[in-house]
Amino acid sequence: MESKIADQFIKIYPAAGDRLIVRSPGRINIIGEHTDYNDGFVLPAAIDKAVYVAVSGRNDEEIHLYAGDYNESHVVNTKAVEISDKHWPNYILGVVDQLQKKGFSIGGFNLLIDGDVPLGAGLSSSAAVECATAFALNELFGLGLSKLQMVQTAQKAEHTFAGVMCGIMDQFASMFGKKDHVIQLDCRSLEYEYVPFELKDCKILLLNTNVKHSLSSSAYNERRQQCEQGVAWIKEHHPEVSSLRDVSIQMLNEYVLPKDALIYKRCKYIVEEIQRLLQGCADLQQNNVEALGKKMFRTHEGLSREYEVSCEELDFLVDAVKENPDVIGARMMGGGFGGCTINIIKEDAIESLVQKLKPLYKQAFNKELDYYIASIENGTSLVTQTVVASNV
Ligand code: GLA
Repeated sequence: MESKIADQFIKIYPAAGDRLIVRSPGRINIIGEHTDYNDGFVLPAAIDKAVYVAVSGRNDEEIHLYAGDYNESHVVNTKAVEISDKHWPNYILGVVDQLQKKGFSIGGFNLLIDGDVPLGAGLSSSAAVECATAFALNELFGLGLSKLQMVQTAQKAEHTFAGVMCGIMDQFASMFGKKDHVIQLDCRSLEYEYVPFELKDCKILLLNTNVKHSLSSSAYNERRQQCEQGVAWIKEHHPEVSSLRDVSIQMLNEYVLPKDALIYKRCKYIVEEIQRLLQGCADLQQNNVEALGKKMFRTHEGLSREYEVSCEELDFLVDAVKENPDVIGARMMGGGFGGCTINIIKEDAIESLVQKLKPLYKQAFNKELDYYIASIENGTSLVTQTVVASNV
């Protein structure tokens, strides 16, 4: 992949000078969904599918972007960085805009982006692009940002230039990932711990619905507001409560249920999921993958029936493996409304499961079912730095 990016870069920017290439991975999340923006915990990891960004400085004030996936370029002046209709440049320009707002002076640069994170599959390709960009520009312009500052810049870019009020999980996982470990992240304090993720005879199988429902970002923002509304009602009686992290089911019963049954349902899922994750971490520590797997199925039920961010295709794929003794746990993963299910499955059962599911899925939805076996890899890093004899 690196040499493909380097070759492409030279082809697109033949006059470019010193360049560097950064890799930033997609992510999975074992358990703890929609908990990040509620100050809860998450359990993500970076994977072997990644975005690559190659950059070089320019002597003028122009930003030249090129996306390998779309064979498309975009040029903008550093003084006129704004949201583009093309969509893909926004994940890069959003980061530039955030850096400028922090007072950094960002000079002209060439950037090429490519990679193998499937788009719209819920593996956070957008967070990977944002983190790769932040990391590359930090190196190129010597900004001196810490990894956490880059993560926060990337998250803000998603809020402002992509319009999704996401939590911190995706960007954190892409940047801080560690090979063969999951990250137990406390999204309130941002303290984290790497937990070894050893599956023995099992693997992580991602089943891609190949669906991305168009309302997913507005529904995401709506869920976030519903959680905030629930907190606001409780706060009237318990001023010390600042997020669903501080809330008990009893508080929900007392102050939210009488006001709004739907908001109650949303908040109840979150409060239970925060607890479930902590118990799931204890399962992991005791090497009890079976117990963790059962919790993943429970999480899916909550996401589907209470939080209502699943869809027919995701439910179909989880239902299809529920009674399969080789599947230890399964659930929809990420924001929802499409994307992938994550399955912990016995390695020698993968092939037969996929061969069985593909025609059933095709028959039910007239869509292809794709699958990936994910391995857990390191987070964002510099992969190469090339000094060119004469800078142009
Ligand atoms: C998306 C968001 C994350 C997180 C998940 C749901 O991936 O970007 O911040 O909220 O959804 O857990």
